[in-house]
Amino acid sequence: MIKHLLLSSILPALAVGAPQSTRCRCLPTESCWPSQQEWMSLNDTLNHNLVAVRPVASVCSPQEFNSAACENVTSLWTDSVWRSSQPGAIQWENWEAWPERHQTCYIETDKSTTCGQGRISLYSAKVQNASDIQHVVRFASAHDLRLVIKNTGHDFLGRSTAPESLQILTHSMKQIELVDDFLPKGAPKNDSEGPAVHLAAGVQLPELYSAVGSHNHTVIAGSSHSVGAAGGYIQGGGHLPLGPGKGALVTANAYQNKDLFWALRGGGGGTFGVVTRATIRTFPNVPFWDAWTEWHAALPSLNDAGGSGYYFSLPNLPLNANTSVSTMISLLMFPEKTNTTEIEQLYLPLVSKLQKIPGITVQNMAIPFPSINSTVFDVLLAGQPYDSMGSTAMLASRLYSKDLLTSQDGPTRLTNAWKSLGWAPGAAITGHVVAGGAVAANGDKIHSAVNSAWRRTVTHLLFSKGWDATATLGE
Ligand SMILES: Cc1cc2nc3c(=O)[nH]c(=O)nc-3n(C[C@H](O)[C@H](O)[C@H](O)COP(=O)(O)OP(=O)(O)OC[C@H]3O[C@@H](n4cnc5c(N)ncnc54)[C@H](O)[C@@H]3O)c2cc1C
Ligand SMILES: *[C@@H]1O[C@H](CO)[C@@H](O)[C@H](O)[C@H]1NC(C)=O
Ligand SMILES: *[C@@H]1O[C@H](CO)[C@@H](O)[C@H](O)[C@H]1NC(C)=O
Ligand SMILES: *[C@@H]1O[C@H](CO)[C@@H](O)[C@H](O)[C@H]1NC(C)=O
Ligand SMILES: *[C@@H]1O[C@H](CO)[C@@H](O)[C@H](O)[C@H]1NC(C)=O
Ligand SMILES: *[C@@H]1O[C@H](CO)[C@@H](O)[C@H](O)[C@H]1NC(C)=O
Ligand SMILES: *[C@@H]1O[C@H](CO)[C@@H](O)[C@H](O)[C@H]1NC(C)=O
Ligand SMILES: *[C@@H]1O[C@H](CO)[C@@H](O)[C@H](O)[C@H]1NC(C)=O
Ligand SMILES: *[C@@H]1O[C@H](CO)[C@@H](O)[C@H](O)[C@H]1NC(C)=O
Repeated sequence: MIKHLLLSSILPALAVGAPQSTRCRCLPTESCWPSQQEWMSLNDTLNHNLVAVRPVASVCSPQEFNSAACENVTSLWTDSVWRSSQPGAIQWENWEAWPERHQTCYIETDKSTTCGQGRISLYSAKVQNASDIQHVVRFASAHDLRLVIKNTGHDFLGRSTAPESLQILTHSMKQIELVDDFLPKGAPKNDSEGPAVHLAAGVQLPELYSAVGSHNHTVIAGSSHSVGAAGGYIQGGGHLPLGPGKGALVTANAYQNKDLFWALRGGGGGTFGVVTRATIRTFPNVPFWDAWTEWHAALPSLNDAGGSGYYFSLPNLPLNANTSVSTMISLLMFPEKTNTTEIEQLYLPLVSKLQKIPGITVQNMAIPFPSINSTVFDVLLAGQPYDSMGSTAMLASRLYSKDLLTSQDGPTRLTNAWKSLGWAPGAAITGHVVAGGAVAANGDKIHSAVNSAWRRTVTHLLFSKGWDATATLGE
C-alpha cells in the first residue's frame, strides 16, 4: 500500500556497512563525552530545544519528589498520546528499565526506591525540521554518541530508546500537505502517481486520517491513536539504534537512492537514516478449537472477497470460580461493499458449519458504514482518545499463509500448535487479517524490504504476556 512512498532521509552513510560489534559508543564517564559547553552550544543551535532527560516517574521518587507533578504523571501513566510527547517515556515501561543494572523508575515501585535512569536517553533533541536533525546527527557523529530516534516510542522491541544515548524526538514535526498529483523527484514528467499526502516525521495516525478525511480522501494506514505514520510504522522491523554518520539530506524513491528506498520500507526503524518526511498514496473515500479450525479454513475466502480486520480469541475466559468459556470475536471490514446481504452470504458456509458443532453459539451481523472515515473514527478509534500503554509486555507471533490455510490439514495443524501452548485464564490471541488482496498482488510489483512471507500471508496471529513491574529480572 506504500508503493508510491517517497522518503526524505538523512542518510548516515558510514553506518550502512557491517555493524561494529566490538566497540562501544562514547560513555558519559569517558573524556570523549561532550563538555557542558558543547551541550549548551548544541542547545543554542537547536533554538533551545535540547533537554536533559529523567524518566517521567522521577518526580514520584523520594529524591526528586514533587507532589503535583507526581499526581499528574500517575493520572497520565497509561495515556499513550501523552507518552508519545515525553522525552522521558516510551510506551512499554519494561523497555524504559535496565534490569541488568538494577535501574528502574516505575510508579508501581515502592516509593522509597531510587529512580534509575534505565534505558531512557540522557538528552533529547526536540527537533523541528530536517536541518535540526542534521545538526544532531553531526553532533552525535563528531562525539561518537549513541543516537536513537524516538517518534512515539511504541516499538515492541524497545528500539526507540537505548542506555546513555542522545535522543532525536520527532514528535513536533507535524506538517501534513495534500497534493492532487504526486510526481516523485526524478520521475519522468508523465509518470505522476495521483493523489498523495506528504507527512513530516512526527505525524500520528489520527492526525493523518483527519487531514485526508477533510479532503474526502483516505489512506491505508494502521489503527492506533498514537502510533506514528512516517516512522517505525513504515519502516517495520529492523534492529539497532542508529549509528551516526555523515548527515546528508537525501530523497529516496523508485528513481533515486533506490537501495535506500528498498531498505526503508520494511528494513527496520532507526537503522538506515532518520526519515524526516514520507509521502503515501491517498485513496478516494469509498467445542472452541474445532470452531477455530473452521474459522481459519474459511478465512482465505473471506479475505479473497475483500475482508480484512482483526479477531480476538480467549481460549480460557473465566466466568466465575467454577466455569470458564472459550470465545472469539471477529471484526472484518469489506471496503466499498455496501450490500449487507452479500456479506452475510459470504459468511453462510462458515456459519452453518459452526452451528453444527455442539456447544458453539454463533452470532453474526453485517453493519454498513457510510464511509471509511466513519469506520476509522467510530469503530477502530472509538472509546478513550488514546491507546492504553505504560504497561509491560513481550510478544510472539507467526504469519500463516494462504497455502497453509487452503491445504487439507493446514487449519487443523495451526489449531493444534496454538492449542498445545496451554492457555492461562484471560490470555488472548489476536489475529490480524491485514494482508491478502492488494498486499499479495503487489508482491511482484513492489521492490521493498518487507518480509516476503507477508505477501503470502492471510493471518498474523500473536499473543503477548505482561508481568508485574516490580518483578525481578530473574522472575
Ligand atoms: C496500540 C498499537 C496499535 C498498532 N497498530 C498497528 C497497525 O494497525 N498497523 C501496523 O502496521 N502497526 C501497528 N502497530 C505497530 C507499530 O506500527 C510499530 O510499533 C511501529 O514501529 C511504531 O512506530 P513509531 O514511529 O510510532 O514508534 P517508535 O517506537 O518511536 O519508532 C519505532 C522504530 O522506528 C524508528 N524510527 C521512528 N521514527 C523514525 C524516523 N523518522 N526515521 C528513522 N527511524 C525512525 C525508531 O528508532 C524505532 O526503532 C501498533 C502498535 C501499537 C502499540
Ligand atoms: C528549523 O527549526 C529551528 C528551530 O528548532 C529554526 O531555528 C530553523 O530556522 C529551522 N530551519 C528551517 C530550515 O526551517
Ligand atoms: C536548553 O535551553 C533551554 C532554554 O534556555 C533550557 O531550558 C534547557 O534546560 C537547556 N538544555 C540543556 C540541556 O541545558
Ligand atoms: C501536567 O501535565 C500536563 C500535560 O502534560 C502539563 O501541561 C502540565 O504542566 C502538568 N502539570 C504539572 C504540575 O506537572
Ligand atoms: C512517458 O513518456 C515516455 C517517453 O515519451 C514513454 O516512453 C512512456 O511510455 C510514457 N509513460 C506513460 C506512463 O505514459
Ligand atoms: C470522520 O468521522 C468522524 C467521526 O464520525 C467525524 O467527527 C468527522 O467529522 C469525519 N470527517 C470527515 C471529513 O467526514
Ligand atoms: C467533501 O464532501 C462534502 C460532501 O459531499 C462536500 O460538501 C465538501 O465540499 C467536500 N470537500 C472537499 C474538500 O472536497
Ligand atoms: C463453585 O463450586 C463450589 C464447590 O462445588 C461451590 O461451593 C460454589 O458455590 C461454586 N461457585 C459458583 C460461583 O458456582
Ligand atoms: C444484494 O445482494 C444480494 C445477493 O447477491 C442480491 O440478491 C441483491 O439484489 C443485492 N441488493 C442490491 C440492492 O444490490
